[in-house]
Amino acid sequence: MDQLLQRLEKLEEFTGLPALVLDLMGLISEPGTIVQDLINRLELDESLAAYLLKQCNSAAYSIREEIRSLPRAVTLLGFSRLKMIFSDYMMRNLYRLGQTSSEQIDLWKHATAVAVINRALAPKMKIAEDEAYLAGLLHDIGRLALYYLDPTRYFHFRQVWLEEKPNDTTRLERKLFGHSHDQIGHILLERWQLSDYLKEVVRYHHNALRYQGNNKTVTLTALSNAIVHNLYDDHSLFLDDLLEYCGLSLSDINALLPSAGKLIESAWVLAG
Ligand SMILES: [Fe+2]
Ligand SMILES: [Fe+2]
Repeated sequence: MDQLLQRLEKLEEFTGLPALVLDLMGLISEPGTIVQDLINRLELDESLAAYLLKQCNSAAYSIREEIRSLPRAVTLLGFSRLKMIFSDYMMRNLYRLGQTSSEQIDLWKHATAVAVINRALAPKMKIAEDEAYLAGLLHDIGRLALYYLDPTRYFHFRQVWLEEKPNDTTRLERKLFGHSHDQIGHILLERWQLSDYLKEVVRYHHNALRYQGNNKTVTLTALSNAIVHNLYDDHSLFLDDLLEYCGLSLSDINALLPSAGKLIESAWVLAG
């Protein structure tokens, strides 16, 4: 095993995901889950409970009454939206929001924007919104790992990327780090024992047109990733092939952009 992968194994931030969050996500996915079980477990983590109530009362979930209790929050949100809030919470921990560099904030903002666009487009492709959302949040997790492994080299990578705007960023990463973020991300998701649909998204989101499987979230995430780069990074990526693979049109995208844009901006405000 080469040095980079050895260091990845020891990277503190990635030795495990918050156990409680994984436990809650698993509980929600089981058929016949009892709401009280979920609340009992939520009460074990004050900061997650507080985060849940804050999110529930934010514009993102458009619930009209003020929510002050966990049972009311769980009932009104429903399991799908709860999963998205747990996913956000997990990502904020991984990105160490609150004590972060601008690189980490940029990566988190990008992941959040891709997650929001994924969620907005998911119903058109008959994909579960919470799955699409989590896939968007995690798709570039390997890039965060590259940053934690070697911040100086990452900064250099970022400079070259901004100057050259290469179509294939993974080639540049392989040249500078020896591995690309899709490979590293896939290794991390294997270690965390996350589902195959997420692993495939992370592994193939830069090769979606060559992906042979039937996981539609792969092409959806590749499309959302390209849309976000075009919108926010002044980086023109060609959308036509991905749109065709997803069975979507440019007018589908233009129709959702105003509302998705507002959700993205309000999520970014939280990052400070
Ligand atoms: Fe990526
Ligand atoms: Fe990305």
